Amino acid sequence: MSDESHASPQSTAPHLTAAVIPAAGRGVRLGPGAPKALRALSGLPMLIHAVRAMAASRGVSLVVVVAPPDGAVEVKNLLDEHALPETTDYVVVPGGDTRQESVRAGLDALPPGITEVLVHDAARPLVPVDTVDAVIEAVRGGAPAVVPALPLADTVKQVEPATESGAPEPVVATPERALLRAVQTPQGFDLATLIRAHEQVALNGEGATDDAGMVEQLGVQVVVVPGHEEAFKVTRPLDLVLAEAVLARRRANDGF
Ligand code: CTP
Ligand code: MG
Repeated sequence: MSDESHASPQSTAPHLTAAVIPAAGRGVRLGPGAPKALRALSGLPMLIHAVRAMAASRGVSLVVVVAPPDGAVEVKNLLDEHALPETTDYVVVPGGDTRQESVRAGLDALPPGITEVLVHDAARPLVPVDTVDAVIEAVRGGAPAVVPALPLADTVKQVEPATESGAPEPVVATPERALLRAVQTPQGFDLATLIRAHEQVALNGEGATDDAGMVEQLGVQVVVVPGHEEAFKVTRPLDLVLAEAVLARRRANDGF
């Protein structure tokens, strides 16, 4: 691991940032097949794109990949096969039943000395390095929790969810769209703050799908920085089509 320190005007203490990549999900909404993080995009597993996106930032010195519980060896072999920059170390640990448990497993694997952590969905393989750097910069500048986010295209309705699929659902409220943001990853945290959130915020049901939400429950201020269209989450089959199109455009623009 690189021990280079990054001085910023706000702080002279050494900063060491790790990225935890939860990749242990099945990808149920994508349909039958391999675990989502291992599906190919332009010939490379989605996870490899996501790991490279984190390693592309000079601020990230360690990547912790949280693999499907039965796939840790396969994921370790994949990472060994696909070279990362020499300055980026990686570790693979098995994940849990929920994203929250998987993130916790990744945090537990961090070595001493790490001061900030990014949590990045393997399912957001195409996030540009500028977005990663902007999140790191905001955390190193003193924000304990930073989330990249975009304004919404669609208006959002709050409803009373129907118990029967397809049944009409009564509308409860229409939040003002201009006040809403759709959040992405990587989310960046002061490490001690995120660990405290994972220790103190209860795991219920499916667990938290958003790490910043857990930090909010501690009463700590979370801030949003501009996200990026290409940081979208590959969730449903159409998202694979979009991801392939983004990669094709990148190849056409810069020879990839
Ligand atoms: N994730 C994880 N461990 C889990 C569940 C999810 O590490 N038990 C990870 C996924 O691998 C993904 C990220 O959390 O990178 C975001 O989750 P999501 O997009 O919901 O992925 P899946 O849970 O795999 O998809 P689905 O909900 O459709 O099954
Ligand atoms: Mg999920």
